[in-house]
Amino acid sequence: MADTQEISENLEQLFSSGNFLTRLNFRFFSYLSGLGSMPKSTRVLDCGCATGFLLQYITSLGFTQADGIDSSAPMAKAAEARTSGTVFVNDIAKIPDYIPANSYDVVIASGVIHHLTTQEEWKKFFSGCRHALKTGGTFISRP
Ligand SMILES: C[S@@+](CC[C@H](N)C(=O)[O-])C[C@H]1O[C@@H](n2cnc3c(N)ncnc32)[C@H](O)[C@@H]1O
Repeated sequence: MADTQEISENLEQLFSSGNFLTRLNFRFFSYLSGLGSMPKSTRVLDCGCATGFLLQYITSLGFTQADGIDSSAPMAKAAEARTSGTVFVNDIAKIPDYIPANSYDVVIASGVIHHLTTQEEWKKFFSGCRHALKTGGTFISRP
C-alpha cells in the first residue's frame, strides 16, 4: 500500500490551489449529475472521498448531510474537517458492515471504482451501494 499520508498532502496542495479547472470540475459534476438541483436535505454518501474536497463543495451548495468513506485514515481525517457529516474510515466493498440499509438519497463513486480490482469486490461494492440507497435513490459514478 502506498504512503497515503503523502498522497493526502499532494491532494491537499492540488485542490487547495483553488484553480479554475478544479472549480469547473466540481461545477460540472453537480450540474451533469443533477445533484445541484436536488433538495438541500438530500442525504449524500461520497465513496472514496479522499481529503473531502467534493464533500466540501457539496456542503458549500447548502447540503447539510454529506458523509464520506475512505480507507485511508489521513485522507478521512482531512475530509472530516470539510463536512459536518460523518467520514467512515472503512472499505467501500464492505458498506453493509457499517452503514444501515436505506440510509442515503444519493451515493457517489467518483474516481474510485478502479481501485477495486476483482469481480468479487465490484459485486460487493455495487450491492453495498444498493443496500445504502433509499428506494428510488440515485447512484452517481464517474471515472
Ligand atoms: C483517486 S482518489 C479519488 C478521490 C475523489 N473521490 C475524486 O473524485 O477526486 C481514490 C480514493 O479512494 C480511496 N480508496 C481506494 N480504495 C478504497 C476502498 N476499497 N475503500 C475505501 N476507500 C478506498 C483512496 O484512499 C483514495 O482516497
